[in-house]
Amino acid sequence: MQIDKNVENDGVIFMSIKDEENSSKTSQDQEESDVTILAIESSCDETAAAVVRNGRQVLSNIISSQIALHTVYGGVVPEIASRKHVEKINGCIRAALDEAGVTLKDIDAVAVTYGPGLVGALLVGVSEAKAISFATGKPLIGVHHIEGHICANFIENKELEPPFVCLVASGGHSHLVIVRDYGEIEIIGQARDDAAGEAFDKVARAIGLGYPGGPKIDKAAREGNPDAYSFPRAQIPDAKYDFSFSGLKSAVLNLINQDKMQGKEIRQADIAASFQKSVVEVLVSHSVEACREYGIDKLAIAGGVASNSCLRQQMEKECTANGISFYRPSPMLCTDNAAMIGAAGYYEYKKGVRFDLDMNAVPNLSLGQRERRFHGRKTID
Ligand code: KG4
Ligand code: ZN
Repeated sequence: MQIDKNVENDGVIFMSIKDEENSSKTSQDQEESDVTILAIESSCDETAAAVVRNGRQVLSNIISSQIALHTVYGGVVPEIASRKHVEKINGCIRAALDEAGVTLKDIDAVAVTYGPGLVGALLVGVSEAKAISFATGKPLIGVHHIEGHICANFIENKELEPPFVCLVASGGHSHLVIVRDYGEIEIIGQARDDAAGEAFDKVARAIGLGYPGGPKIDKAAREGNPDAYSFPRAQIPDAKYDFSFSGLKSAVLNLINQDKMQGKEIRQADIAASFQKSVVEVLVSHSVEACREYGIDKLAIAGGVASNSCLRQQMEKECTANGISFYRPSPMLCTDNAAMIGAAGYYEYKKGVRFDLDMNAVPNLSLGQRERRFHGRKTID
């Protein structure tokens, strides 16, 4: 994975991510049966566009990241995110097409994230995709953001096929799912309160590491002792695969308050390492237990938290010990990007899913209640 980065005048980071394997392939290599998808993602603070062929071959992957703009506020400011998406989206799409060596004529469909996410942010991508579909007559496909994260695993693991267990842990969601078939997802566990990424972000803020919390805790933890503090690992008796991180977050906040009251210094690295160990232990044990119970020997991880170095190491170790094949996207494909939307969009396209031009953004779209349209027929599954 090769990344070209450029910091623009407004602080936005423009990235072009190249999969070396595919970088020499252009429209000239296209075969009759190939399906080439232009994918768009704008659900939070990354404006992204990609061209993906046959669900697994990334011809281009462009990300315009606003992280630097939101850092001063300690988190994503929705209004600023939407306005930046409006500014950046056309440039990202232009760059994605150019880099892939294709034009809109070579595209078979436009796929876009239509939920969940920030409504104003989602609307920018949705409106753009609808405009392209209307102007070119190419089919429009709405993609669930979390399904996109799961499908990021298909890009670098060409041999990965369902069924497999997947842990999806991002800023707003924690899900443990079984991917029964392409686009057929069974939820077996989910967050009862804070999502894993949300817990990382809140704890990072509390110990003074700031935003974005996940990568900062990951880095600080490398200098800390993971056994310095014993934080709780919540188990929910009637739903053993569900997650609850709010008790853990409260335990960290209580410790900080106590230390402050006693005039002690906050041991950032030790707290980061001990907190991270608790989260990782729960994520790993739930995932491995699910593989065992359901008799599935393939485990994948996805979402921003899947780029956590400790999670990746521990998951690999436990998978090896239990005879499970472990799959994970490169860290750059774990966080928000459009290549994953192109991968998910391809499998929806193959199933005949088509959206009409009345597609809308659905900010709270849940994974288990996904609207699909097969040639105009609307279903909820
Ligand atoms: O998937 P994502 O990019 O956006 C959402 O769909 O939410 O995930 C963002 C989340 C944030 O909470 C961020 O702190 C977390 O993923 N994250 C990490 C790491 N990198 C990003 N958490 C732990 N360790 C990391 N290295
Ligand atoms: Zn995401």
